This record gives sequence, structure tokens and C-alpha cells, in this order.
Amino acid sequence: MKNEAEKVFEALGDSGRLTVLTGAGISAESGISTFRDSGGLWDQYEIEDVATPEAYAANPSLVQDFYNMRRAHLGTVQPNAGHRALVRLEELLGDRFTLITQNVDDLHDRAGSRRLLHMHGELYKARCVDCGVAVEWRTDISLDDRCESCSGSMRPHIVWFGELPFYLEREIPEACASSAVFFSIGTSGMVYPANTLASQVKARGGFCVEINLEKTAGQGVFDLQIEGQAGETLPLLIAELEALL
Ligand code: APR
Repeated sequence: MKNEAEKVFEALGDSGRLTVLTGAGISAESGISTFRDSGGLWDQYEIEDVATPEAYAANPSLVQDFYNMRRAHLGTVQPNAGHRALVRLEELLGDRFTLITQNVDDLHDRAGSRRLLHMHGELYKARCVDCGVAVEWRTDISLDDRCESCSGSMRPHIVWFGELPFYLEREIPEACASSAVFFSIGTSGMVYPANTLASQVKARGGFCVEINLEKTAGQGVFDLQIEGQAGETLPLLIAELEALL
């Protein structure tokens, strides 16, 4: 992993920014199902039934049950070495570091990541369908739950298919526009617009690294593809990078 770390260090220089995008793969070793691996969530459920505004309008209790089940499971799992390695990288780089996650679990938060953007929302939050206020929520959301501000119904604070992810106006484009290095970790790269971030960095001459169980199509954007379990490869890469920083 020393060779890979040297390439990242060379691209980073002594003042370059590093932006990371994570997906479900970084939480897999903690015991959270990914979406598109065999046996993943989209093998068990239809997206159209549980993860769209239309599904919520048609059958709100099925949608609430889907997220209540995932929220309850989250309380039984812990961050893994991959999450902790990214906390160390944030400690090393400070404000040169941004972590964007597609994941709605709180494992990056619990591991200690702070410069963190949840672009697809968070399981441990609920949002009023009327006034849009999002609040911490760690138990089941029921159809009877009401917003404390305006008495509207409460929905999961999750970005459904067809809805706009968060932080696309400023924080995410700013991070990608100014990054010398981009890590794509544990994501199949199947979902827009998260799957455009690496090419945004590449277009500006950035060095893009994929750290994933297996190589994805990559759209030819990755300068380096490191295959393996993120809980194993990431700590090795960041330990070698730390020795160079
Ligand atoms: N280490 C590294 N990568 C892994 C591991 C692991 N231990 N286990 C699985 N992977 C990889 C898989 O090879 C796959 O490429 O993680 C990727 C997971 O891909 P998906 O299941 O498609 O998850 P993700 O890319 O995060 O999905 C993006 O789709 O359904 C929506 O909103 C949902 O945020 C999600 C988005």
C-alpha cells in the first residue's frame, strides 16, 4: 500500500484538499446491508414500494416500517476500522478534508467524523412534511406522530428517489471544485448525482482513487483502484499516508 500512498501524497502536495465520498460498502463490515450486492436491500424490497415520494403517498405505513426496521437495526451495530481510518485522515488534514456520505446510518458520526455531509439524509432524523423542520428521532416514526411546531405528519429525513440530495447548492460543489484528491469508497457509483462527483474532481485535474470491494466501471475516471474490504484497505492506506504527511 506504500506505492498507492505515495501517489496520493504526490497528488495532494502540502496544501491540497482531499474529498471523500462513501457508500454502503463502508458500513457492510459493521453488519449493515448494502443495496446492490446479492442479497442487498434492493433484492429484498422494490425501490418503488419503499423509497419514493409516490410510495409514501400510496402506502405510508409500509414506507415507515421500512425505515423503522433500518433505524432499529442501526442501534445494534458499531463503526468499523474503515470509519475510524477516515476520522484519522480528518485529524491529519483538518480543513483540507471533506467527507460526503450517501449513507443514512450514523456510523461516520459515531466514529468521530465531523467534517461530514449526509447528502442522502439521516435515519436518526425525522422531518415534518408541512414545515420541513427536521429533528433528532431515534425510535419508530408512526403515522400518528406530529410536528411540535405545526402539527404536520412526520416522515423519515431521507432523500428518496426523485428528490434532490442535500448540500448540492454550495458545500459539495465547493469541495469538489477545490480538491486535489478524491476518494470514492464502498459505492457502486450507480446513483446520480453522487456518481458525478469523481468526474467533477477529475475534470479539474484532480487525482481520483476508488477503494471498493471490487472495481466498478469507474467511467475511466479513477487513476487508482484499490480492491478489497474497506475495513482492511483503508487503515493500511491511511497509515502509509500518515507516514508521508
Ligand atoms: N468494502 C468496500 N466496498 C464494499 C464492501 C466492503 N466491505 N462491501 C461491499 N462493497 C461495495 C460493493 O462492491 C458495491 O460496489 O460497496 C458498493 C455498494 O454499492 P451499493 O449497494 O449500490 O450502495 P451505494 O453505492 O452506497 O448506493 C448508493 O443508492 O439506493 C440508493 O440511496 C441509496 O445511498 C444509496 C445509493
